[in-house]
Amino acid sequence: MSKRVALLTGGGDCPGLNAVIRAVTRRSLDRGHEVVGVREGWRGLVEGKFQPLDDRAISGILPRGGTILGTTRTNPYKVEGGVERVLEHFAGERLDALVAIGGEDTLGVASHLFEERGFPVVGVPKTIDNDLSATDYTFGFDTALTVATEAIDRLHTTAESHNRVMVVEVMGRHTGWIAVLSGIAGGADVILIPEIPFTVEAVASTVTTREFRGSNFSIVICAEGAAERDGGGQTYQEATGTLGGVGAYVATQVGKVTGKDARVVVLGHLQRGGMPTPFDRILATRFGAAAVRVLAEGRYGEVVVSRGMEIGTVLMPECAGKVRTVPPDHEMIRTCRGLGIGFGDEEDESLIPEPLA
Ligand code: F6P
Repeated sequence: MSKRVALLTGGGDCPGLNAVIRAVTRRSLDRGHEVVGVREGWRGLVEGKFQPLDDRAISGILPRGGTILGTTRTNPYKVEGGVERVLEHFAGERLDALVAIGGEDTLGVASHLFEERGFPVVGVPKTIDNDLSATDYTFGFDTALTVATEAIDRLHTTAESHNRVMVVEVMGRHTGWIAVLSGIAGGADVILIPEIPFTVEAVASTVTTREFRGSNFSIVICAEGAAERDGGGQTYQEATGTLGGVGAYVATQVGKVTGKDARVVVLGHLQRGGMPTPFDRILATRFGAAAVRVLAEGRYGEVVVSRGMEIGTVLMPECAGKVRTVPPDHEMIRTCRGLGIGFGDEEDESLIPEPLA
């Protein structure tokens, strides 16, 4: 039966959102549905902002970063009368189902609306942080990783030329996935993540040990949520109330202790902008197509996820609000330690063998 399918993107933007919009729209039009874009995330449903989506609207958007629908962090549960307005506008537009593309917050709202109001919604997870426990991968992560790795490669040559410590601050919010994977790919010397509190002394010790061995420069990857052990494991973010900024602190302190010239580069939103990688375009396309299948079967309250090589679904509460952090004894961390990469902790210099399967 033909439906009027709505589509929204909420939260921070992320490379691959347009690829999902394209896939959902194409598959829906193929099935004879009408597709309506909701502008600016949940705000569009609170305020009644819509735009029709047809073949023309989605032409050429597959490789484009950002989202043609716009996005905000509006949460209708935090707006006076917000939920009622969402329901009114949804009914007023004669919509039958919604595909909500977003992270923890956006899917949290979708989950509550489904549970409390029977709202017909299917979720698609997105975040460059790759920190949702229900899915192996979220699209956007691979692009962020690619941007960070390329930056590290470039910073290597200038760090080496000047015998400097180069601190690269990457995103990731409360988790260190971008830092760990870009650190491995970029050949970092130290990786600082929220899950393993660091001391400035241990970071400095890795830098001076490298110097002793003839490498006069070091690359330190610092997740924006990295936590100093002496601060009781509190992240810089918690201590200062700001997201980001810890890289500058690390550079200043390590420079002081080692006497070396240290610089910081904050990659920030560069990691979220621009073209998605092929991996992200493919994952986003598969998620979008799967969301339409789920919707066609009337399986509302589910979120599409990636598990190994397959695309599956989980119930919304399994996805919303469940952050996956980096286990400090993860095989990748052990592998890094085995390669001599420091984490700014006591085990900095020890070679920990990789665990057997
Ligand atoms: O969750 C994605 C993310 O890019 C985080 O890595 C980062 O901490 C945050 O969003 C930045 O948010 P904003 O775009 O609001 O500055």
